[in-house]
Amino acid sequence: MRPMLEARALSKHYQQGSIAVAAVDSVSFSVLPGEIALIIGPSGSGKSTLLSMLGCILRPTSGAILLAGRDVGRLSDRELPRIRGRCFGFVFQSFHLFPFLTARENVETALRLRKVSARVRRERTVDLLARCGLEDRMDFYPASLSGGEKQRVAIARALVGDPFILLADEPTACLDSANGEIVFEMLRHFAQEKGKAVVIASHDPKARRFADRVYSLADGRIEVMTD
Ligand SMILES: Nc1ncnc2c1ncn2[C@@H]1O[C@H](COP(=O)(O)OP(=O)(O)O)[C@@H](O)[C@H]1O
Ligand SMILES: [Mg+2]
Repeated sequence: MRPMLEARALSKHYQQGSIAVAAVDSVSFSVLPGEIALIIGPSGSGKSTLLSMLGCILRPTSGAILLAGRDVGRLSDRELPRIRGRCFGFVFQSFHLFPFLTARENVETALRLRKVSARVRRERTVDLLARCGLEDRMDFYPASLSGGEKQRVAIARALVGDPFILLADEPTACLDSANGEIVFEMLRHFAQEKGKAVVIASHDPKARRFADRVYSLADGRIEVMTD
C-alpha cells in the first residue's frame, strides 16, 4: 500500500543567534491509511517541528514531503493552505476550542468554508459527536466540559471535514491517564474504522500501546524505529 504521508530526509534548521540548531535532522517517516504512527521523544526533541512540517504548516529547510505520493514542496504558497485544509485535521494539547461556541458549534464551524448545506453540516456534526460519546454534551460550552470531553470535541472538529490525515500534537498532555486512554482509543478507532492515517506526537510512553509504528526522536534525530 502506498503511504498516505511520507517524509524523506526532512530537516529544519533554526538560527539561534550565531548558531544553527537542527530542530529536525534528516528524518524519514511514513504512515499508511488506517495506521497510527507515533513520534515519541522528550521535550525539545523536535516533535512539534516535525509535525508542523508534516502538516504543511512549516516549510522544511531540506528534504521532501509526499502527500499520497505528491511532492508538497512543489506547491505554491497559494496552493498550500487549500491542500492543508482539505487533507489534514489537527488536534492540539490545549484543545483550542472557541469558548463562546457550544460543542456542536465548535465542530460545525470547521465545515463553514465547505460547500456543504446547513442540514448536512448539522447531520455530520451530530453523528460525529455521538460517535465520540458526546450525545448529551452537544449544547454545552467548553467551560462546562471536562478536559477529556473537550479533547473529544476537538477530535470531532478535526475529523468532520473528512481529512485523510489526523495530526495530534501531545493530545493527552493535559489529561489524566484514564481520559488519555479514551483519547488514544478513539484515535485508534478512527484510524481503523475510517482508514485515517493518524500521526501522534507524544512524550507519554503509554501511547506506544496504540501505535502501529513508533519513531523515537532525540535531538531531532530518529533513534530507533519499530514497525
Ligand atoms: N521558532 C523557533 N525558533 C528557534 N528555535 C526553535 C523554534 N521552534 C523550535 N525551536 C527549537 O527546536 C527544538 C525542537 O523544538 P520542538 O519541535 O518544539 O520540540 P518538542 O515538540 O519535541 O518539544 C528545540 O531546541 C527548540 O528550542
Ligand atoms: Mg512540542
